[in-house]
Amino acid sequence: QQGPAFDVNAMTLTRWVLAQQRTAPTATGDLTQLLNSIQTAVKAIQTAVRKAGIAKLHGISGDTNVQGEQVKKLDVLSNDLFINMLKSSFTTCLLVSEENSSVIQVETERRGKYVVCFDPLDGSSNIDCLVSVGSIFAIFRKKTGGEPVEKDALQPGHELVAAGYALYGSATMMVLSIGKGKGVNGFMYDPSIGEFILTDPNMKIPEKGNIYSINEGYAAEWEAGLKKYIEDRKQPKTGKAYGARYVGSMVADVHRTIKYGGIFMYPATKSAPSGKLRLLYECNPMAFIVTEAGGLATNGKIPILDIEPTTIHQRAPCYLGSKRDVEELLSYLK
Ligand code: AHG
Ligand code: MN
Ligand code: MN
Ligand code: MN
Repeated sequence: QQGPAFDVNAMTLTRWVLAQQRTAPTATGDLTQLLNSIQTAVKAIQTAVRKAGIAKLHGISGDTNVQGEQVKKLDVLSNDLFINMLKSSFTTCLLVSEENSSVIQVETERRGKYVVCFDPLDGSSNIDCLVSVGSIFAIFRKKTGGEPVEKDALQPGHELVAAGYALYGSATMMVLSIGKGKGVNGFMYDPSIGEFILTDPNMKIPEKGNIYSINEGYAAEWEAGLKKYIEDRKQPKTGKAYGARYVGSMVADVHRTIKYGGIFMYPATKSAPSGKLRLLYECNPMAFIVTEAGGLATNGKIPILDIEPTTIHQRAPCYLGSKRDVEELLSYLK
C-alpha cells in the first residue's frame, strides 16, 4: 500500500538555480546568491501578507511616495525586506525601488556587480480586501567602472540578466527567467517545507487567447484605435466574444495572461500620455518574462524591451500577452 506522495528529491528553486550556475563554467555564484536573497524577501513578504489582517499590517503608513501614491504598511515592510536582503547578499551595488525617490547606493563594503530594480509590493490597492498582490524584480549588470550612479540603472530591458515576479495569490508562486533565450520557469511555494518547488517548467504563453484585460473605467480617454479593438473583442464579426478579466494587480493579471493566454493592457490615456505602469520595475521585467515565454510586449510603437530609459520612475504604455493577440492589437493602433 502506497502512502501519501512525499517528494524526497524535490527540485527546489535554490537547487534549480545552483544547477543552472553549474552549467555556466565562468559563473561566480553571485547571481545564485542574489536570487537567494530575493527568495528570502519573498518568503517573508508572503508570510506578512498572509497574516496581515491579524498582525495589524493592513492600512496606510501615512506617507506618500514619489509617484504621489498613498503608501501602505505592507509596501513599507516589503520594501525594507527587499533592500535589507539585497544589500546583505554582497552582490548588488545599486537599487531602484518604486518606494524610494532616488536610487539606493549599497555601502562600499557590501557592493557587488548587480543593479536591481524592484516593485516590492505590486497591487497595493488590493491589499486590504485580500485580492492577490505580488512583487517584481529586474536584474542588470553594472556596465561601467566607478561609483554606482543612477545612469547604471538606465539600461533598456533587452540588457536584463534576469527578471521575475512573485505572486501572493491563492498560493504563492515565483516565476523566473535567468536570461535571454533561457525561458521561464515557475516555482510553487510549499509552506510545509518553506521551499519553492519547480511546478511549471518551461512556461509558454498560448499563441492566442480569448481574454482581454484592461481598466475599462478610463475608456473615454483612450485613443480611437484601442476603443475599436476592445469593441471588436466584444462584438466580433465572426467567432465568440472575448471574456474580460482585470484584477488591478499587474502581477496577477500578467500571470493569468501567461497561463491562459490573451492580452493585458495599461494604455496611454489623455490625462496620462505614458500610462501608469513604471518602465524599470513593472513593464520591463514583465515584458522580459512574457517575451521569454513566447509572447509579445509593446508600448504600442516599439517593443517594451527596446525603450531607452531616461529617468528611473518613468512610465510607459504597456500591451503584452499572446503573440497573435498583441499583433492584432497593433494593427488597430497603427
Ligand atoms: P503598485 O501597487 O505597485 O503601485 O502598482 C499598481 C499598478 C498595477 O499593479 C496595476 O496593474 C495598476 O496599478 C492598476 O491601476 P488602475 O487602478 O489604474 O487600473
Ligand atoms: Mn504603488
Ligand atoms: Mn506595481
Ligand atoms: Mn508597488
